[in-house]
Amino acid sequence: MSDLVADPEDVQSAIELAESNGVQIVDFRFTDLFGTWQHFSIPVGDLKPGLFEEGLGFDGSSVRGFQPINLSDMMLLPDPTTAVVDPLLGIKTLSMICNVVDPTTGEAYSRDPRNVARKAEAHLRGSGIADMSYWGPEAEFFILSGARFHQDPNSAGFEIDSPEGIWNSGASEVGGKPNLGYRPGYKGGYFPVPPTDSLQDVRSEMVLKLIEAGVDVEVHHHEVATAGQAEIDMRYGELTSMADSVMMYKYITKNVAAAHGLTVTFMPKPLYGGNGSGMHVHQSLWKDGEPLFYDASGYALISEMARYYIGGLLAHTPSLLAICAPTTNSYRRLVPGYEAPVSRVYSARNRSAACRIPVYNEIPAQKRVEFRCPDPTANPYLAFAAMLMAGLDGVRNKIAPPDPVDEDIYELSAEERANIQSTPGSLEESLAALADDHDYLLEGGVFTQDLIDTWIEYKTENEVLPSALRPTPFEFLLYFHG
Ligand SMILES: Nc1ncnc2c1ncn2[C@@H]1O[C@H](COP(=O)(O)OP(=O)(O)OP(=O)(O)O)[C@@H](O)[C@H]1O
Ligand SMILES: [Mg+2]
Repeated sequence: MSDLVADPEDVQSAIELAESNGVQIVDFRFTDLFGTWQHFSIPVGDLKPGLFEEGLGFDGSSVRGFQPINLSDMMLLPDPTTAVVDPLLGIKTLSMICNVVDPTTGEAYSRDPRNVARKAEAHLRGSGIADMSYWGPEAEFFILSGARFHQDPNSAGFEIDSPEGIWNSGASEVGGKPNLGYRPGYKGGYFPVPPTDSLQDVRSEMVLKLIEAGVDVEVHHHEVATAGQAEIDMRYGELTSMADSVMMYKYITKNVAAAHGLTVTFMPKPLYGGNGSGMHVHQSLWKDGEPLFYDASGYALISEMARYYIGGLLAHTPSLLAICAPTTNSYRRLVPGYEAPVSRVYSARNRSAACRIPVYNEIPAQKRVEFRCPDPTANPYLAFAAMLMAGLDGVRNKIAPPDPVDEDIYELSAEERANIQSTPGSLEESLAALADDHDYLLEGGVFTQDLIDTWIEYKTENEVLPSALRPTPFEFLLYFHG
């Protein structure tokens, strides 16, 4: 547990931050196994240095994927370097992200996703290959005006809406106001100015709140789909801290939307016929402050190490996707035709390739690999750690990727296309791949067998099998009259 004990100076700074801002409540946050931020709060009077050593207890059996009922007591140790004054709450609140500790062993908890991320970073430092990795996730989402869904034995359905949804084009009124006709069509959202883009100020407010919460932002824009698809890009950062920022990103985007009477979803494919929401993840390795993925003489200016890293990502893509595209809905996004990355190849330009190498400029510090298969339903701590382990496996074992493909993959002849492997077609397939291929994740004890078994069992029993049992509205369209 020694590496979990906070530096007294950081503890002091967190306490001073609370004092100088007139904070009244302190909120402690951690992420469950499947990526949802959890929290509870205490009055600021109890924010004492001892709390960073003794921790705070909670019931681990009520958190998804954590402890059985007979071993339920768990502990949180706040990380004072994550302290920020919450930019959204009415009552001044200091929030801190916590590490989870098993009180019986006093060790960091093996199913705490943040612990997996921290172990992956330590493993990288011990590998001799690199000492640091940088991560730039691009999480897309829809900003909607409403969402209804239900699932009963004799009835089921969903309806999402947005004044921007092209299906509202013929309505006499939209949301009680006259229909003024400006809205992006299918695949038309990238990216005309307002009034077609009606969400500029909402996204700007999200960006300003993210900056207040200490998250660096590079750019925001409307995304391709109709009905308010959006993207905000954060500036790249180190693995655990970037995963912390993804949690803050989801929290802020959802709550700013709610303050406007809107709702945000990170579901990969909420809209049939429109682009899905991905979370492309840009990644690079560094050593002694130098970028390792740049080589002026390489294809798309990448180094041999970057090529092997890509080889690792592509070789392990099916099992990786059980963690990086971890919902049944993820596989409605990973289909041909919507820029979705279904081909297990790499390319400097091709947006249907699983790995892309951006070639906007020749700056060595910006040379990176973009893995395009993940989506924002992934738990970022586990997803970044798993991608790093796959890439490192490629570098260690010199796994060469197939030759890059720069032509439009859909224009290739059937023969050429036959050589290109595809991503798995369902969560069930990805989970089966993870059951077969996970030794690379266990290296250095980064992931444990227990975590992987828990993951596969939970996803199978709570998501895959229940989905298979339920008739869908489309099946009624197809078969009711048969
Ligand atoms: N060396 C690096 N390592 C990791 N991430 C990086 C590095 N340099 C830049 N990034 C990050 O890459 C992310 C995305 O960059 P960019 O917007 O250029 O992506 P893009 O894939 O071209 O965009 P889109 O997918 O919307 O077409 C940003 O978060 C940026 O900070
Ligand atoms: Mg991208």
